Amino acid sequence: MKVNGTPTRTVWMEGSTVRMINQPLLPHRFEIVDLPAYTDTARSISTMVVRGAGAIGATAGYAMAQAALAAPDAGFHDAVAEAAKVVQATRPTAQNLFYAVRRVLRAVEACGDDLTAAREAAVAAAQDIADDDAACCEAIGRHGGPLVPEGARVSTHCNAGWLAFVDWGSALSPVYVAQRQGRRPFVWVDETRPRSQGARLTAWELAQEGVAHAVIADNATGHYMRTGQVDLVIVGSDRIAANGDVANKIGTYSSAVVAAANGIPFYVAAPTTTIDPDCPSGDRIPIEERGQDEVCYTWGWSDEGRFIRVRTTPNQSGARNPAFDVTPAALVAGIITEKGIVPATPEGIASVARR
Ligand code: MRU
Repeated sequence: MKVNGTPTRTVWMEGSTVRMINQPLLPHRFEIVDLPAYTDTARSISTMVVRGAGAIGATAGYAMAQAALAAPDAGFHDAVAEAAKVVQATRPTAQNLFYAVRRVLRAVEACGDDLTAAREAAVAAAQDIADDDAACCEAIGRHGGPLVPEGARVSTHCNAGWLAFVDWGSALSPVYVAQRQGRRPFVWVDETRPRSQGARLTAWELAQEGVAHAVIADNATGHYMRTGQVDLVIVGSDRIAANGDVANKIGTYSSAVVAAANGIPFYVAAPTTTIDPDCPSGDRIPIEERGQDEVCYTWGWSDEGRFIRVRTTPNQSGARNPAFDVTPAALVAGIITEKGIVPATPEGIASVARR
């Protein structure tokens, strides 16, 4: 997708340096951050400089490639295995992260003691993961685009646009296709507290593409659904269980319940790398609980141009901060994948899942 007219990806690798968009600075500042070592790249995932399932997966793949490039000949395989542990510990929910680490490890292990080949294979696998993510998201747009007719009003939660992937995005890809085909979609953008990925990232992306949209407080979504102003919902996913249950950003479940109460189709868009075939149901998806400061404080730019945080809750109040929730398969109209739209059922999931 384009930033100020220039085609841009969220994350890429140049030599042994990983480069990515510094997402916490958006929408007010667009900067690229350079990460020279795999430990820096891993930290960019845990601190959410990069976030979103596909982007996290691509970043994890690149981190593993950096680890392989830097690992000494003596103890090479141990060093790469240690790096895999570090990268896998950065965030618990997004399946793409674990998929990417496994894919690079497999490529390295297949080279045995040929360490030159192993390093090359790690870099190639990481690049394939990123390219595959972009291609899958583009295909999701092709399959999901027809769900967005002329003037459709689409509700979305969090950011599942191209910033959450390498390019195109999942939930927003059908919207971008509809826009480019002249169908003038409109998007209701849930603010998505506490980190405001909707208000900060989805709104910025849609503005860059010229898609009509309005940011709404999370608690306004039900109002627009009940009053007939939402035609369909499309959200992304961080992990999809084998039975079709879907984990996504906290608040997604509430949106799905209200959509069902109002007869509004609720779609989930995700590349098949987000499916966890070994996870039988949503009850087994690990839900990340983040620090309470994300709820008690908010970050933003002051009128003086300083990036500051301000406390919004009483000093003596604690908070809870689950980052994701699970939407039961029964509430999902279909899963838009790069292989087509499948039902959120064990059979539908099995027909597209990959390892
Ligand atoms: O915590 P984040 O920002 O990494 O979470 C991302 C999401 O949960 C989004 O909901 C997104 O829709 C999933 S699709 C990448």
